[in-house]
Order: sequence, then structure tokens, then C-alpha cells
Amino acid sequence: MDKLVITGKTPLKGDVIISGAKNAAVAILPATLLIDGVCTIDNLPNISDVKIFCDILKELGAKITWISENELTIDTRNISENNAPLDMTSKFRASYYLIGALLGRCKNVTVGMPGGCKLGARPIDQHIKGFEALGAKVDVGQGKITAKADKLVGNSVYLDIVSVGATINVMLCAVLAEGTTIIDNAKEPNIVDVANFLNTMGADIRGAGTDVIKINGVKKLHGNATYSVVPDQIEAGTFMLAAVASRGDVTIKNCITKHLEPITAKILEMGAYAEDLGGDTLRVWCDKTPNKVNIKTLPYPGFPTDLQPQMGVVLSTANGTSIINESIWESRFQYTEELNKMGAKITAQGKTAIFEGVESLSGAPVYATDLRAGAALIIAGIIADGKTEVYNLNHIDRGYENIEEKFRKLGANIQRVSEEVAKDE
Ligand code: UD1
Repeated sequence: MDKLVITGKTPLKGDVIISGAKNAAVAILPATLLIDGVCTIDNLPNISDVKIFCDILKELGAKITWISENELTIDTRNISENNAPLDMTSKFRASYYLIGALLGRCKNVTVGMPGGCKLGARPIDQHIKGFEALGAKVDVGQGKITAKADKLVGNSVYLDIVSVGATINVMLCAVLAEGTTIIDNAKEPNIVDVANFLNTMGADIRGAGTDVIKINGVKKLHGNATYSVVPDQIEAGTFMLAAVASRGDVTIKNCITKHLEPITAKILEMGAYAEDLGGDTLRVWCDKTPNKVNIKTLPYPGFPTDLQPQMGVVLSTANGTSIINESIWESRFQYTEELNKMGAKITAQGKTAIFEGVESLSGAPVYATDLRAGAALIIAGIIADGKTEVYNLNHIDRGYENIEEKFRKLGANIQRVSEEVAKDE
């Protein structure tokens, strides 16, 4: 088992190039199941969630040819299976997109229950509500989800909660359905990216990125096109917050600055700096202790929950007392216990955590409890005095491409080393 060994207190300086978005990639890959043809996808992040998805697609009969580390072609003309194995789907959350995609293609699907980061209860009732609105019958039991339909017919879908996953999943299910589906829900950048991908392949989806998405069903998606995955907003935000936490100066390349506005706004409020340099490039720097700020995580365009732990590291050494209210996931403060081992003063209860800023953190062995917590602990190691060891790297490798290389290029002293025995997860 590997660990990251970080020797801190390094102000990060230099350029970092952002990879394609994990959460778009893990929806676009299953979306290829709706195509009866061959497509090319590039700017795919080289992360373990992408690799697992490719393995699942191969199990289902897709032919995958890698052109480079970040580009592949997928031939989905001969999909022979509509049953995704539990041991594969349980490895990550986004396996739920197989339901919408295979239901759309085969009208009949069985998928093992999705896994993923343990952030509290992660129901998929809204996904099911959407499939049922289009005419499917859905059964959940024995660790599996089965969905069937004689035919899928477009409908108006009203979801009770703002859900990125349910919006995308219903969109996948509706692309080949008869008639028009209207979804009034989330408007996050990854949803827009999946809609753009599907439209490039022959779908008719309008309004993604606004409150109302209208999907006119088409008979077939032709493929025969190349699509480039949108840059990862959360990876970019991770490096923005790392720049502030380390009192550094980082130029973030290949990012969509519009998607980063909720983070930029908080960085400016803290007294640090962010400047759009044009050409998908953003410079973030900080030359003094940041001011306290309060954060409430919200659906896009609010402050993203997936950057809450990284912001928590910034606030752990800010001036004064800050409060974070986590409104999306019920167990997203597990990382605060690890930060407290490093000398932070954080009190977390329920959906609220209070961060009393301390002068500095000190290195310690810490355990990534989930993907974004892992990224936060790396940043904590970079700003701490002395040596930090970060364990449970499997969480981090699910979603960040070459993370230690990218931090090393910014001046961090960070090494991946193998260790025989690491603490059980
Ligand atoms: C996606 C992201 C995840 C991010 C989250 C919120 C992927 C693979 N993951 O997760 O990184 O943290 O958006 O931005 O894209 N809910 C229900 N019933 C449902 C669906 C969701 O109650 O059927 C609740 C969830 O428990 C949560 C909230 O709705 O409290 C938002 O969840 P959702 O937007 O669906 O998250 P995911 O799409 O799973």
C-alpha cells in the first residue's frame, strides 16, 4: 500500500495544467452506451474511476482503443450485456449512470448498487423517480437495481432535490425515448458537458446549464465524432485553495474561469488575490494570513461541496474564527479529525464546523477518509511544519490525475512511497 510523504512548509509557486473533469468523464463514458457507432473522447483524466468504467464498458461488449493516456475510441456497436457486475459497480458512485444509459439502449438493465465515497446516506430515489416518469419499472433489492420498460416515453420530470446525478441519469434515459422530456433541476457545468457530448453524437438536448433542460428523443446516436472533456472545476479549485493555504502564487492553466467564480469570490473575500489572465488561465496568490470567511455549500453556482475540505484547510490557519455549513452531504467533516491531529482547532457537529484559525499546522500521519478529504490532507501536509504522511491513497487516485507530480512541479516536497502495512480502511 502506498503513502504520500510530504515535508512542509512550502509556498506553492508556478504553473499547473488542469485535467479533464472526473465527474463529466464518469458520465460521458456510460453515455457512449447510447451510441450505435464509434466515438473518440479526449482530455479524459487518467484516474482510476475512468479505468474502472472502461473495464465495465468492455465487460458489456464495447471495444476500447487507447490512443494516448488521455484519449480513446469506443466502439459500442456490439453491446451484448445489460448487466453490470456488483464487484465493479460497488467501487464508485457514478456506476449509477449505467442504469440510465442501459435502460435507454436496451430497455432492460440490472446493475449492482453503486459505491463511492462515504459521505453519509446517498439515496438514488430521485434517479428512480425520473426513470419511472419515463415509463420504467424499477426494483431495488439484494444489492441490485433492475429497471425495465416496454418503451420509454418523454415526460416532464420534477425532482424533489437539486441532484446532479439524477439530472444526468434522466437525461441519459430520455435521449432515445419517444417524444420530449423536460427536466427542471440542476445546472452544473458537468451536466452541460454531458449534454454537449450527447448532442455532438446526434442527440437533441437544449437548455442544459439553465433551469430547464428539454430533450427531444431521437432514434439513434451516430457517433463518428470526437469530444473533449471539460476541464475539472474541482481540480482547479483544489489548486486555487492550495495556493492560498500555502501563501503561494499559482497560475492555473486549462480552466474555465466562469466555473470557478464561487471560489474566486471567497478567495477575494479572504484578502487573497485572483486574476483572470485570459486564455483559460487564472492566477491565484496570497501574501498574508487570509481573513476568516463563512462558507455554505450549495448546488452550482454556489460554493461546491467538493471543495469544502480543501477550504477547511485554508480556514484552519486563517485569521479568526470561520464557520462552514455543509448543506449537501451529512458526513463530510471526517477530515477535520485528521486536521486536528495536525494542530488545527476545529469543532464539527452535524452539518456545521467551526474553524478557530491557528498560526500553523504540524506534520502527522493522517488518513484520507474520501477523495476530496485526501486532497485537503495533501494541502495540509504542504503547509504544515515537518513531515506528514497521507494514507489511503486509493481514494485520491480515483479522482486526481498525477496529483503528486503536479504539486511537486509547484515546489512541494512530496513523494509516493510503498509501505507494506497501512491502516485498514
Ligand atoms: C455529484 C458528484 C459529487 C458531488 C455532488 C454534489 C459525481 C459522480 N459526483 O454527486 O462529487 O459532491 O454531485 O455536487 O458527479 N439526493 C437524494 N436522492 C437522489 C439523489 C441525490 O436525496 O436520488 C441527495 C444527496 O443525498 C445529496 C444531494 O441530493 O444530499 C445532492 O446529491 P447529487 O447532486 O445527486 O450528488 P451526486 O450526483 O451523487
